[in-house]
Amino acid sequence: MFSRQKKAQSISEETKVIDRNNIPAHIAIIMDGNGRWAQKRHLPRIAGHREGMQTVKKVTIAASDLGVKVLSLYAFSTENWKRPKDEVSYLMQLPIRFFNTFVPDLIKHNVRVTVMGNIDKLPKDTQKAVHDAIDQTQECNGMVLNFALNYGGRDEIVDAVKNIATQVKSGEISVEQIDESLVSANLMTNMLDEYEDPDLMIRTSGEERISNFMLWQLAYSEFVFTDVHWPDFDAKTLEDAIIEFQGRHRRFGGLTK
Ligand code: IPE
Ligand code: IPE
Ligand code: MG
Repeated sequence: MFSRQKKAQSISEETKVIDRNNIPAHIAIIMDGNGRWAQKRHLPRIAGHREGMQTVKKVTIAASDLGVKVLSLYAFSTENWKRPKDEVSYLMQLPIRFFNTFVPDLIKHNVRVTVMGNIDKLPKDTQKAVHDAIDQTQECNGMVLNFALNYGGRDEIVDAVKNIATQVKSGEISVEQIDESLVSANLMTNMLDEYEDPDLMIRTSGEERISNFMLWQLAYSEFVFTDVHWPDFDAKTLEDAIIEFQGRHRRFGGLTK
């Protein structure tokens, strides 16, 4: 499945088991390939999105069971508005369907919902579903399920620059006080505290690009690309990606780990 890497792996590595003591704290996923999954089955693209929603449920529980601290899921980008109107409106309804059926399970698994992105631009009923889910799960202190909805990494950075410029202009801070931690603090991931930067970024469906996702935060993340389309992703493929992560040597610019 992880074809390129697999070639370099020995049989013993392929059968490696997951190390439960080295689970990436923050996993970010670009959930891609819903449309192609549907087209392969001669179904409309939205059938892929519907199935993809089921995958979100399964993968959320799987990640929570593995002890992941934050699962960030890219659900709708600032560029996805370019899609046909029908598809966009279906995608806007999905969070409503998702939270209506899944909040009790999230609470049962102690999962807290957070959202990053420009929520104010979403339809009113979608905004309400999102805010309700955030409120209903606010007491949960297990995994954080962080949805990127109408999210763009560049948009996020532009917002941060505006905020910082405003603080400088008002005299609240000086230019000299602008540093990496101040920039981070002005990004939408600020609420994730020490987990704001993903350890592992997974993209499904074979595309190998980040499509405006978490540009700042992915600076030192490990990337895993899989050919599996999002509706076919599951607990097993998640574990495979984590096993691949566990075989990497993160150096953060230094020489040894
Ligand atoms: C991912 O699947 C879901 C969203 C981007 C909203 P796509 O809809 O991008 O599926 P493909 O890439 O066209 O197959
Ligand atoms: C990225 O997928 C956005 C989401 C998964 C929400 P796209 O399908 O929109 O990305 P591109 O257009 O292939 O780069
Ligand atoms: Mg796509």
